[in-house]
Amino acid sequence: MDLAIGDELFALAEAGSPAADRPAQQLTVDVYTDPVRHARELAAIAAHPVAAVASSEIAEPGSFVTAEFAGVPVIVARDHDGVAHAMRNVCAHRGATVVAEPSGTGRIFSCGFHGWSYDLDGSLRAVSDKQRFSSEAPCTMGLRRLSCEERHGMVWVTPNPDTEAKDLADWLGSELDDVLTELGMPEMVHHAATEYDLACNWKLLTDGFMELYHLKYLHRNSIAPYFPNDLTLSKRYNGHFGGWLPKNRVLRMLRDEPRDEWKVVDGCTAAFTLVPGTVIQWQAGHVELFSMRPHPTEPNRTTCRLTMLVPADRAGETELWDRNWERVCITIPDEDFAAAVDVQRNVDAGAVDVLQIGFNEEKLIQHLHEVDRLLPD
Ligand code: FES
Ligand SMILES: [Fe+2]
Repeated sequence: MDLAIGDELFALAEAGSPAADRPAQQLTVDVYTDPVRHARELAAIAAHPVAAVASSEIAEPGSFVTAEFAGVPVIVARDHDGVAHAMRNVCAHRGATVVAEPSGTGRIFSCGFHGWSYDLDGSLRAVSDKQRFSSEAPCTMGLRRLSCEERHGMVWVTPNPDTEAKDLADWLGSELDDVLTELGMPEMVHHAATEYDLACNWKLLTDGFMELYHLKYLHRNSIAPYFPNDLTLSKRYNGHFGGWLPKNRVLRMLRDEPRDEWKVVDGCTAAFTLVPGTVIQWQAGHVELFSMRPHPTEPNRTTCRLTMLVPADRAGETELWDRNWERVCITIPDEDFAAAVDVQRNVDAGAVDVLQIGFNEEKLIQHLHEVDRLLPD
């Protein structure tokens, strides 16, 4: 991969960033505010794999986490055979939340309302006072199961149980699946995670990963000095988006070092925007995974769960990873996310109706088209 990406970056650097050969486009702000569109986008997100939790966060048999995707409460658990399961965290009896804790370990899930219990795969284990409840076996399969797959160090859950399960490798496409494998994702483990409740539409957050026009302005006091101006290798991967941003030192290396000694990938930041709602960013030997969880009804609210994954064989280098984590937690929320919240505030105030999207930002429009393709009727 080093040489392939290196060749493409070298050609791009030689040619220089292309000049715009078509006019900027106009985007009406309702894509960030319309509640009807928002409901359809939520349905699209719920019908596709969501990066729920790092596999290593539920490493032990019996361990579980709970979370909400598109407003639906979910349990992700590992059974005693080591298999991961996902199910709605809603009791089959009368709809109570079964597991209140955010995470833990156990042998069964037991509902606090009337004591029904479930196995770690969600199947109904016991109905309390069964003989007084019904003359026949209660007609329930247990907690509503969701399709769930472990790949690239994460457990991916499809929140809508009525959609056909998607094979993750197919959904990513073989090229991106191979890239993530070569970046070492399958052997990565959770180092840290946090959640941000942000007053903006989820797409304003993904937009920030798809244009680097802002790099030398928004990030002028943080990361901009390490990167060239507006030189990104843009890729499409099966409906998803990728951008490879080389550090200045990579460009020097491509120019000055023999090709067979190039170490390109190590000196790049690569961001992969999976449609809809997940961003995987690779840099400095680790992965930052952003899982966008839009508010169930309000278009201008999003919870973003950020998980940092590090190579399992170097997980003990905690000082290094803590330093990287600190840097990520400063730059992205303070700069990119703050800019997204600022735009949403102006849009919500009615202070702007139409945004200008440049040739160098066209991926934002292409991303919208990809999301549109997934919207239900
Ligand atoms: S709602 Fe869970 S046991 Fe009654
Ligand atoms: Fe940025």
